[in-house]
This record gives sequence, structure tokens and C-alpha cells, in this order.
Amino acid sequence: MNDKAVRLQSVSHHFGSVEVIRDLSLEVSHGEYVAVVGPSGSGKTTLLNLISGFLEPSSGTITRRGESRMVHQQDGLYPWLTARENIALGLRTRRGTAGRPGRLEAMLDLIGLNGFADHYPHQLSGGMRQRVELARALAGEAEILLLDEPFSALDYLTRVRLRGELERLIRERPRTVILVTHHLEEAAQLADRVVLLTGRPARIRCVLEIPRPRPRRPTDPAVVEAVERLLGELGADPETSAIIPPDHVARADGGGR
Ligand SMILES: Nc1ncnc2c1ncn2[C@@H]1O[C@H](COP(=O)(O)OP(=O)(O)OP(=O)(O)O)[C@@H](O)[C@H]1O
Ligand SMILES: [Mg+2]
Repeated sequence: MNDKAVRLQSVSHHFGSVEVIRDLSLEVSHGEYVAVVGPSGSGKTTLLNLISGFLEPSSGTITRRGESRMVHQQDGLYPWLTARENIALGLRTRRGTAGRPGRLEAMLDLIGLNGFADHYPHQLSGGMRQRVELARALAGEAEILLLDEPFSALDYLTRVRLRGELERLIRERPRTVILVTHHLEEAAQLADRVVLLTGRPARIRCVLEIPRPRPRRPTDPAVVEAVERLLGELGADPETSAIIPPDHVARADGGGR
């Protein structure tokens, strides 16, 4: 029986002649928090679109158990709906009910946009739009959250605060999370496993497990060690963060620890 929330078996994908993902296999358990990091243009957004079912893989199979919600890297809001109406869409369930009363106000509170509830996306900054998207995804009951750099447009303090809020909400209502981020620290602080992808076509370069309960401080030794390993894998010398030639980088062990 397939008891995994998400399972990819030998998945490859290309857009025309551009091969974006090659023979990628990954299993994510129910309630697991997986971060995906990799170079820009390597295929991370494509990977989430495949998992959500928005794209069909060119070959291989993908199974998903449970409804998924995606937070898009850019502008996934409906431009003709206000912030409040966009979030309200997230509250709707497949059975058509409107969700718990007060939930919408609670989500607006969470993202600190009470005064902007009736603004349309074009009247909000990029960071505000990102917060509305996150609220829309968290408002609902979807089992699987696919988060595509959900904090990238936020200032540092808002980023840290929302990261903490997301952490708290997931603890209160466990879900399966796949988070794409460029921030190694964020990945190591939040995730049970960090999957590092190669450049295009994306394959799994290594998987790091972070067997440490959350919440974790960014300065937790397990977080720091994971970041150093990831930097090493990426060819950066953790001592100086200077890039060292790839030949000097130890091969990944495939995460069998
Ligand atoms: N719909 C599409 N049609 C054609 N090519 C596409 C399409 N979507 C993505 N690509 C190409 O696939 C590759 C991977 O894109 P993708 O958006 O998945 O990368 P990414 O890892 O998310 O990058 P970033 O970190 O910059 O967000 C890129 O070369 C991109 O040009
Ligand atoms: Mg992307």
C-alpha cells in the first residue's frame, strides 16, 4: 500500500527540447516537512507544478494522497478579487462550506493586513501579496502544502515572523509541507529533510536529514551543521563562503544516514 503523501518514481520532464527534470524519485511521508533547494532555473517550480498535478510528467509516475494547495512564487492571486475575497476562496472546502467562522479575520490578523482586506492585488506590495497567498493556502484544510519561495519578497523581520507563524500553524494542524527556498538556513531550520537539486536537468544531488525537534533556532548546532554541509555540496567553502572548484567537493552520500 502506498502510505506516502507524495511519491515520485523516475519522473522526467521537458518543455519542448529543454530537459528540466531527469529521473527524479522522491517520497514524502504524511506530516513530513521537506525543503527543496537548488540553483535558479533548475526546475523547482516545475517540480511543485508536477506534484500539484498542474503539469503532467513527460515520463515516470507521481502519486499524491490528499488535496494540495500551492503558494506561488509570483502573483498567484486572482487580480479581480480583494485580499479578503482571495483568502475566502482558500477557506472553501470541496464540499462547498465556508470554513469556520472567524477564520478569515484570524488569517488577516496573522499576516498583519487587516487594514488592507479590501484592497485588490495591484494595490498591494509584492510582499503583501505573498502574505495573502500564504494566508489563502493556510486558511484551508488541504493536507499537502506546496510552498514556492513563499517568503522571498518579504523584509527580513516579516520573513522571520511569518516563518515562525507557519511553524506554529503546522504544529497545531500537522500537514505535509514541501517548501522551495533559496535560503539554506531557512531550509535547515524548518525541514525534516532538505533535498538539494542539481542544476538543470534537476536530479537529486543529496538529501540531508535533520533529526531535531522543532521549533529550532537558526543557531541550533544541527541547523548550523546542515547549512555547512549544504554549502560544501554547493561548492562553497563554509569557512569563507568562497566558491571552491567542483572537483574538490566530496560526493553526496545520497542521504542514507
Ligand atoms: N511553461 C514553460 N515552458 C517552457 N519552459 C519552461 C516553462 N516553465 C519553466 N520552463 C523552463 O524550465 C526551467 C526550470 O524552470 P523552473 O521555473 O522550474 O526553475 P526554478 O528552479 O523554479 O527557478 P527559480 O529558482 O529561478 O525560481 C527553466 O529553464 C525555464 O525556462
Ligand atoms: Mg521557481
